[in-house]
Amino acid sequence: MLVFKNEVNAELVIIGYFSDVQMDNPYINEKNDSAMVYGKNTQEIPRLYVKLGKECDATDRSVRNAYAKAFQECRKLQAYTIELNHKNFNKSKVSLLVGALEGITLAAYEFDKYKSGKKDCDLQIVMSIKDVQVQQKLVESYQLMTSINEARDLIIEPPNKLYPETFAEKINEFGKRYGYEVSVFDEKEIKELGMTAFTEVGQGTNHPPFLVVMRYTPVKGEKSIGLIGKGITCDTGGYCLKGSASLPYIKGDMAGAASVVGIMNGLARNHCQTNVIAVIATCENVVDGNSYKPGAVVETMAGKTVEVVNTDAEGRLTLADAITYIKKHEEVEQVIDLATLTGATALCFGSLYTPVFGNNEKLMNEFMNVSLEVGEDYWEMPLDRRYKQEIVSRIADLKNESKPSTITAAMFLKEFVEDIPWLHLDIAATAVQYPVIDEYSRDVPSGVGIRTIYQLIKNRRN
Ligand code: BES
Ligand code: ZN
Ligand code: ZN
Repeated sequence: MLVFKNEVNAELVIIGYFSDVQMDNPYINEKNDSAMVYGKNTQEIPRLYVKLGKECDATDRSVRNAYAKAFQECRKLQAYTIELNHKNFNKSKVSLLVGALEGITLAAYEFDKYKSGKKDCDLQIVMSIKDVQVQQKLVESYQLMTSINEARDLIIEPPNKLYPETFAEKINEFGKRYGYEVSVFDEKEIKELGMTAFTEVGQGTNHPPFLVVMRYTPVKGEKSIGLIGKGITCDTGGYCLKGSASLPYIKGDMAGAASVVGIMNGLARNHCQTNVIAVIATCENVVDGNSYKPGAVVETMAGKTVEVVNTDAEGRLTLADAITYIKKHEEVEQVIDLATLTGATALCFGSLYTPVFGNNEKLMNEFMNVSLEVGEDYWEMPLDRRYKQEIVSRIADLKNESKPSTITAAMFLKEFVEDIPWLHLDIAATAVQYPVIDEYSRDVPSGVGIRTIYQLIKNRRN
């Protein structure tokens, strides 16, 4: 919880300081990034000093990371009421103070619902800010960080608890709570819509697929921005089974969908005035006698046929139908998809950059500029038509496995997107960071994409 109060009575005070601004504290050692200072008597409230470097070099992201790292110290103290002291923050640089709040809010995240005997106390962040405009900025960002934390919950939720049906239910609850409409289509309805490729991927399980559509449309008479998230709640690879080393991590193959939910929650919570429609085709890719088989030829909703060379390349089949659905049945003027699509992204960029593809220069430039503004790292990839031959099948229109995998997976999606302005973010290696890039994402999903896409959508109204 974020509270504004004049009289702060906290268990701990966190004080950030810039090395080029007056601050002469004998306790602080230049070698350490942060220092906990306990008073002489036990009544005195401990203070945690956070070194932020030179003010002129500090960015929202560097401040966010410094606070996130320092927050690990607070965990040891088990303090639940924390004052975020703002005295060293220059009034003209509110965004740095926002970064501080974000660092704490993201670093304080914990997934402990299945731990018995846990304490049920929420962290309370207290600030003595009077300026209403600054308060509003802090609250907006706090709401967005809370939405990132909700996306993290979805990703960490185990596959025996979160499967297509329960995922759809959770989204429905979010819609009710924050104020957007949610439509859920069951397997029969998905089949009637002609989403055969999607149903084929999800047919080898007793947890059937669901199509979830979220509509946040506060502005009447305007078209919407379309979002699509890959929502495989468990990707074993199907008959092309993954190796046992990667099997424990396969529940996270719905991180794209979770980011989409995070964006929707953030927009609705902050009453953003832009229309957005999001689509999640959620299913499991697991093995039973009814699972789709290597060598199968499946029909897509768009009418194109696909040879299934590899059942582990399931994401593009579900996404192809989600793209066709949003184009045919919803009023969107552009589409952004987020998907944990190809492991090869890690070989190229590690967890640092998210590869991004697009068919529209203006949208790409807009996206890249916003990403710099909010501090997420993307790298533009080529959608060169010479790769097209790699995705053509001998016996069907397309095939679902080809190399180089990150680019040809995007080429595959492009066949379904056609002319509508579109961006594709392959977040396979950045949804969870190995090794850690940002302190605020240590050991937990990053929520990649939420920050940039939220801001891009918000900027449309300025
Ligand atoms: N969900 C995986 C991609 C993935 C791998 C995400 C590792 C996160 C971590 C996807 O469905 C997949 O298996 N892709 C294959 C495609 C290949 C068979 C063409 C891959 O990248 O190996
Ligand atoms: Zn797969
Ligand atoms: Zn997958």
